[in-house]
Amino acid sequence: MADLRSDRPRIGVVGATGAVGTITLQLLRERGYDNVRVFASARSAGRQVAGLTVEEATPEALAAGDLDLCLFSVGTSASRELVPHAVRGGAVAIDKSAAYRLAPGVPLVVPEVNGARAAEHTGIVANPNCCAIPLTCALKPLHDAAGLRRVRVATYQSVSGAGAQAMEQLRGQPTELNDLRMDWDFDGVEFDEEEKLREETRKILELPDLPVSATCVRVPVLVGHAEAVWVETEDPLSAEQAIALLDDAPGIRLEQFPTPGRAAGGDDVLVGRIRADVTIENGLALFVVGDNLRKGAALNAIQIAELLLREQRVAA
Ligand SMILES: NC(=O)c1ccc[n+]([C@@H]2O[C@H](COP(=O)([O-])OP(=O)(O)OC[C@H]3O[C@@H](n4cnc5c(N)ncnc54)[C@H](OP(=O)(O)O)[C@@H]3O)[C@@H](O)[C@H]2O)c1
Repeated sequence: MADLRSDRPRIGVVGATGAVGTITLQLLRERGYDNVRVFASARSAGRQVAGLTVEEATPEALAAGDLDLCLFSVGTSASRELVPHAVRGGAVAIDKSAAYRLAPGVPLVVPEVNGARAAEHTGIVANPNCCAIPLTCALKPLHDAAGLRRVRVATYQSVSGAGAQAMEQLRGQPTELNDLRMDWDFDGVEFDEEEKLREETRKILELPDLPVSATCVRVPVLVGHAEAVWVETEDPLSAEQAIALLDDAPGIRLEQFPTPGRAAGGDDVLVGRIRADVTIENGLALFVVGDNLRKGAALNAIQIAELLLREQRVAA
């Protein structure tokens, strides 16, 4: 069974050969975790990543009972299939796909925003969408101060959000082929990415009726998702007050002109262009950027793991 009180938790990284898995391994090493096994599909079994031999992520291997924590970044259908086996084997699974994010009873956690929810898990903690994480980091302090009435957001998402293969494709293609893409499932009205951003933001902030209108596009940038955000609050909040609140908020760094290039490789969510939106009452506009592979995925999941580890050690 999982022993989260151990000084050397046994960590499985499932999806270790992918864009998020690669960063997960780098961050685990930087943070001193050395009891790590790596898993991917049968295609990668036997390959070396970060000096470790890739194992095939079979139900049997994940359920064997010798892992305390499993960090999954394998895609939604593979997560649906594999996560329950890791949980059956006694591990706590932190899943970065959309498979469990909106499931009742599964906490959807951004440590700076609703970290206390992580403790309510019954085996699975879900890691939110890579735009929902930075967005909620920026919205939470504004909501606490003045109450959110409405949020509109337009995203500029990098190709690494679509995985390692998409990164390779962008690196290899002539620049004149670079274009915006809208490469998510479309239901005739909106992309599933836009629905995720709305529903996950509502769940994380515990505002089930919050009006959230999102338009998502993919831009030819390698790493870093940017979001133009327009907020209406219930009570008046000046740009100066918003700047002061965001300056104090955990995980956020104020920048005059935040860009994906400035966010990539760092842990902070960058927030800038904070100004009044004079077209509406109590309106604010801001620009939010995060490294989608780090805070948008790998780092947020490791921070969730560290919350659980800390809590178990304190309780012990
Ligand atoms: N990229 C981002 O910015 C981001 C942000 C937040 C969340 N996520 C989520 O994280 C997940 C992975 O994203 P990614 O960008 O890292 O994708 P990726 O680069 O395509 O990597 C996918 C990984 O999953 C493994 N995999 C695929 N099918 C598998 C299976 N049936 N069994 C075991 N392993 C399997 C692949 O192994 P092989 O190499 O063997 O094929 C690879 O290691 C997705 O759910 C995505 O939505 C991604």
